[in-house]
Amino acid sequence: MPNLPHDDPPRSPSPDAAARDDTAQDRAGGPTRRQFMLGSVAGGIGGFAASLLAQESALAQRVPEPAEGAPAAVLNPVEVTLEINGTPRVLSLDSRTVLLDALREHLALTGSKKGCDQGQCGACTVLVDGRRVLSCLTLTASVQGRKVTTVEGLGSEERLHPIQSAFIANDAFQCGYCTPGQLCSAVGMLAEVRNGDVSHVTADVRAGAPALTDQEIRERMSGNLCRCGAYPGIVAAVHEVHSGRQAQQAWAYATPIQIAQARSADGDANETV
Ligand code: FES
Ligand code: FES
Repeated sequence: MPNLPHDDPPRSPSPDAAARDDTAQDRAGGPTRRQFMLGSVAGGIGGFAASLLAQESALAQRVPEPAEGAPAAVLNPVEVTLEINGTPRVLSLDSRTVLLDALREHLALTGSKKGCDQGQCGACTVLVDGRRVLSCLTLTASVQGRKVTTVEGLGSEERLHPIQSAFIANDAFQCGYCTPGQLCSAVGMLAEVRNGDVSHVTADVRAGAPALTDQEIRERMSGNLCRCGAYPGIVAAVHEVHSGRQAQQAWAYATPIQIAQARSADGDANETV
C-alpha cells in the first residue's frame, strides 16, 4: 500500500511553547497572546456594561421619573373646562384621558367606580347635561364646556337626593359598589321617562309617555349590573321616586334588646360548640 501523504490535525501548542512565543513577541515589540486575551475579556465586559447603560439610559428617556411629590408629566396635554357638580373646573390632562379617570385621578371624586373599564357594568355612570353616560368610555375632551354630575353632586349628607333616600328605604344595595352608578342611572332614566322616551320593551311607541312598569324599569336599568343582586330593591326605589308615594321602609335597625338577645344566643351557641 503506497505511503499516501496526509495532513496531521493542528495541535495546540504546549504551555511552554506558548510562553516561548510570548517571549519572542515581547522581544519583537508586538502585543503578546496573553495581552490580547486579557484585552478581549476586559473589552467584552466593558461592552456588556456599556450596552446595559445604553439600555438604561434609553428607558430613562422614555419614562421620565417625576421628582418625589411632583405631578407626572402630562403627554399630549389639552385644557378642558367643565362644570363638575355645579363648580367650574379647568383641567390640563392627556388628550386620551377618559372622564372616569379625570374624575377619580385628577379631581379625587372617587364615587364613580371603575368596574370593568369597558362599558359593560355601568358602575361608572355619570350625568352629562342630565343624560347618563358611561364615563369609562367618554373622552374628557369630548365633554368640553358641559355640566357633569356625579354621585357626589346628587345630594348632600344633610339633604339626600330622593333616589338616595329611596335606595336606603328599599334596601336597594348591599356592598354598595354599583350604587353610585345605579343612582346616577336612575336619575337619568327617570328624566328620560318624563321626556316620553320609549324603550326596547315599550308596547306602543306612538302612545306617548310609557307607563313605568317593572319591566320598563328593568329594561332601562339593564346597563347597570349588581353582583349582589339588589335588583328588587332598586326597582322598588325607582317606583317610589317616580310615583312620589313614599313606600314603607322595608327594614329597621335592630333594637338594643334584639342585639342583646342575639349576643346571648351567640354566646350559648359558642358554649355548645
Ligand atoms: S366601568 Fe364603565 S361600564 Fe364598567
Ligand atoms: S350592591 Fe353590591 S354590587 Fe350592587
